[in-house]
Amino acid sequence: MIILDRYAVFGDPIGHSKSPKIHQLFAEQTGQSLQYTAERVPAAQFATAANTFFTEGGKGLNCTIPLKELAWHYADHKTPRAQRSGAVNTLALQADGSVLGDNTDGIGLVTDLIHNHGITLKERSILILGAGGASRGIIEPILEQSPQRLVIANRTVDKAVELAQVFGHLGPISGCGFDDLLTQQFDLIINATSTSLSGELPPLPENLLAKNGYCYDLAYSNQSTTFVRWGLANNALKSLDGLGMLVEQAAAAFYIWRKVTPATQSVITLMNSQRGL
Ligand code: ATR
Repeated sequence: MIILDRYAVFGDPIGHSKSPKIHQLFAEQTGQSLQYTAERVPAAQFATAANTFFTEGGKGLNCTIPLKELAWHYADHKTPRAQRSGAVNTLALQADGSVLGDNTDGIGLVTDLIHNHGITLKERSILILGAGGASRGIIEPILEQSPQRLVIANRTVDKAVELAQVFGHLGPISGCGFDDLLTQQFDLIINATSTSLSGELPPLPENLLAKNGYCYDLAYSNQSTTFVRWGLANNALKSLDGLGMLVEQAAAAFYIWRKVTPATQSVITLMNSQRGL
């Protein structure tokens, strides 16, 4: 009997996860034999479930809401980018039995923006809405692209200011509240709040998006998200949701586990066609 290398995504809720399908497509495409499942794991059971998974021979885990910060604490050691982001979405069993934690969300976003959509970040004025875990994971890879400025706007202003302080040594970043956006304009606006899927939106002033600007919602859904619709209504050149980022972060995790880089475009096209947007 062939025993396949086992991988899984843990989260709660997890029912809608597209990750098993994405990794199955990567495995077929690269000729890798592996099994990837989605498992509902509430936060209180995370450490036990992860211990059991690795003890029973599991090779790697993805962790999603609400487990990324717990996974950060769980990892025996972390990559520098994961260390700074405070969140881990990929755990990988190492040859010595230890578990490495990484965060591929930020690189997934930047790859989707630059390579899949041709959106340059260099010297652009960029706004991130929200200052929670999702924002934390994307700040460093964005600053690496040398934007003209990166502004974090949040309902709780202190959290935005604090994040700007944490990453201040990496580039031109500042934090503010939504009221402070009134007279400003940005080339790219990224929604990293948790509002979109609940149909809400932060209070955004008119003219916030520069002419020929772009909008990107980290969330994705089978319907257009509220923020994607806001972008379209505000004449964004492109108003995108996070499906491309999801596939790209999965590809980066696949590489960490298998040391093989899968092609992503065909997978994004297929996943898009299946949701019929
Ligand atoms: P995640 O890990 O997904 O980022 P989180 O850490 O709970 O989740 O952060 C959620 C983010 O969405 C926060 O920036 C939150 O703003 P606060 O820090 O002020 O709570 C933001 N958010 C949630 N609901 C919001 C709403 N109705 N309007 C504006 N921002 C909202």
